[in-house]
Amino acid sequence: MASRYFTNETLTTRQVLSKMVLLAIAGAYSGVGIAQPATVTLNIQLDKPVHAVSPRLYGLMTEEINYSYDGGLHAEMVRNRTLQDHGFGGVAHWNIEHLGNSTASIAIDRTEGPSAALQHSLEIDVKQADATNRAGVRNEGYWGMALRPNTTYKGSLYAKADSADVGPMTADLINDNTGKSVATATRPGLSTEWKQDEVTVTTGKIETSAQNHLLLTVGHAGKVWIDLVSLFPPTYKNRENGNRPDLMEMMTAMHPKFLRLPGGNYLEGDQIDERFDWKNTIGPLVDRPTHRSPWNYQSSDGMGLLEFLEWSEDLKIETVLAVYAGYSLKGDHINPGPALVPFLQDALDEIEFATGDASTKWGAVRAKLGHPAPFAVKYIEIGNEDWFDRSGSYEGRYAQFYKAIKAKYPQLELIATAPLKRMKPDVLDDHYYKRADEFFGDVKHYDNVDRNGPKIFVGEWATREGSPTTNMGAALGDAAWMTGMERNSDLIVMASYAPLFVNVNPGGMQWESNLIGYDALTSYGSPSYYAQVLFSKYLGTEVPTSSANGNAERFFYSVTRDSGKGAVYLKLVNASSVAQPVEIEMTGAGVTLAQTNTISSPTRIVPVQTTIKGVGAKFSHSVPAYSIQVLELQAK
Ligand code: AHR
Repeated sequence: MASRYFTNETLTTRQVLSKMVLLAIAGAYSGVGIAQPATVTLNIQLDKPVHAVSPRLYGLMTEEINYSYDGGLHAEMVRNRTLQDHGFGGVAHWNIEHLGNSTASIAIDRTEGPSAALQHSLEIDVKQADATNRAGVRNEGYWGMALRPNTTYKGSLYAKADSADVGPMTADLINDNTGKSVATATRPGLSTEWKQDEVTVTTGKIETSAQNHLLLTVGHAGKVWIDLVSLFPPTYKNRENGNRPDLMEMMTAMHPKFLRLPGGNYLEGDQIDERFDWKNTIGPLVDRPTHRSPWNYQSSDGMGLLEFLEWSEDLKIETVLAVYAGYSLKGDHINPGPALVPFLQDALDEIEFATGDASTKWGAVRAKLGHPAPFAVKYIEIGNEDWFDRSGSYEGRYAQFYKAIKAKYPQLELIATAPLKRMKPDVLDDHYYKRADEFFGDVKHYDNVDRNGPKIFVGEWATREGSPTTNMGAALGDAAWMTGMERNSDLIVMASYAPLFVNVNPGGMQWESNLIGYDALTSYGSPSYYAQVLFSKYLGTEVPTSSANGNAERFFYSVTRDSGKGAVYLKLVNASSVAQPVEIEMTGAGVTLAQTNTISSPTRIVPVQTTIKGVGAKFSHSVPAYSIQVLELQAK
C-alpha cells in the first residue's frame, strides 16, 4: 500500500500519446550515434511551498476570427442570413433556383427591410412559376449544412410579397448529391407586410452529412422579399440562438476558469465605427444591424454581448470583459478628455449590463432579455494591444477609464493592454506569438520580473507552428511555456491561448496555427489543445520548492501540488529527439504516522496503482518514507 503521495496520473491523452510513441520511435532510430542525455535529477521539497498557483491561471480567449462564431460556435446554419455580403460576385452564398420552366431573378433591394437595423433585403422576382415548376433561392450554408438523422431543425425568416396571390413559401433541406429533399415545410401564404414566420422540420432516417442546402420556393409569379433567414440544429443546453454542442464540450474539457471576450482585434474594429459596439448586439436579432469585422467578413452579431455572457455561464466560468477604449486598428483614436466620455459611458453601461442587478438601468434591460441574474465578472480589460497606438494617448485613456470604473465598481480589477509610465495598472496584458524554439529560450521570461509591478495576464499566446491547427512541435513549445507560467503563477494571474477556433474549410482561416479545428459537421483538437487540457486539468494549488540538476537540452518541467486533494502534479516536457532519463527525489510529503482515513476523508490513504518504466534484470527503485509497496514484476 502506498500513500496518495505516489499517485501517478498519466499526463498523456491517447492522441498525444500516439504522437509521443511515434516520436519515441523516430528518436530511437535517429538516436543511433547520438549521445544519450545525462539523467536529470529533480529535487522536490513538498513541505516548502514557494507560492500559491493562481486559481484562474488557464482560461479561454475568443473573438470573431477564422469563422469562430459565424460558421463556428454559433450554431446558425444559414450563411449571409441578413444579405449584408454582396458585391460584384452577386449575393454571396445565395443562388437563384428555377425548377422546370419557371423563371426568376434575384437582387438586393435597398428600399425594403424588416426593421430600422435591417434596411435592405433579397428581392426574388418570379416571372413564371406554378405548383410543379417552382422558383426561389437556395443557401449553401457555411461550407454546407450538417444534417443528422431524426433531428429537428428550427427555421425562421422575415418575408413579404407584392401580392397575396404569391401564396405559400416552401422550405426544403436538400441533399446536394441526390437533389432530394430530406425535410420540408410549407407555410401559409405570404403577407404584403413584413412578417416573421417560424417553422420546425425533422429529418428522417438519413445519413449524417454536411452536403446539404436550404431551398426556399414559391409556386406563383410575383415579387417576394426575404431577410434574416435562419436555421438552427439542436444547440448546447437547447438555448435559443445557441451554440454547437461539440465545441462547447471541447471547451468544457479544457477546464477553463475564464473567458476573455470579445477580442482581440474584433473589439477594436479596423475603424472606430467598426468596433464591437455592444448596444447594437443585444435584443431581437432583427434589431441587430451586424457589422464588419477586422478579419474581413461581416459579423452577423448572432453572438452578441448577452450570448457571450451566457457562453461563460454555460461553461461555469468568469467573464473577462474587454471594453472598447477609443483606439481602432487602422490607427484612429479618441483623445482622452471630453471626446472620450461617450465611449467611457458605453463601457460603464456595458459593465452594468453584465453585472448590475435588475434595479439598475442596464441590469433591467438584461432582465427583460431573459437573464435577471448578474454575471460573474471580476476583470475588465481596457482596450486591446494599445501599444499599437503610436499617438501615446493610451496613458490618458486608461487613466480616464480607470478613475470612472473604479469610482463605480471598486471591486473590479482593471487590465491595461500596454505598459504605463504614469500609473501602475492592476494587471498588464502581455501577448506572445512565437515559434517553439523561441518559447524554449524564453521559459524563464518571468522568473525575475519585479513582483511589485502589476500582475500579469498573458491574454494571448501560442506557438505558431502548423496550419490550420498546430502540430506536436507547437504543443511542445506551448507546454514548455506553460511550465514557466506555472512557476510564475504568483505573478501571472491568468493566461489564455489564442486563437481558439478555426473553420478548416478553404477560405475559413485568417490566422494560422489555431487550437480547435472544425467544419460544419465535426471538430477536433490540435496537439496544443491536448497540452492545454492536461496543464489545466492538473493545475494544483501551490508551487513547491524544486530544482533540476543535470544538463538537458529542451527539457522542461513544472511541479505543483494540490494540498486539498493530496496530489502532486509533475509536468515533464521533453522537446528533444531522444528520451530523457529523469530521477525524481521528493521530500516533505507530510505523511505522518498519525495520518489516517476518516468518515469525511475516507480515501486519504488507499492503495494507488502506478506503472514503473525501465525495469529490467537490474534496476534501482526508491521506496518512499512511510509507505507499503507491492511491486508486480514480469519474469517468464
Ligand atoms: O489572436 C489574433 C490577434 O492577435 C488578436 O486579434 C490580436 O489581439 C492579436 O494581435
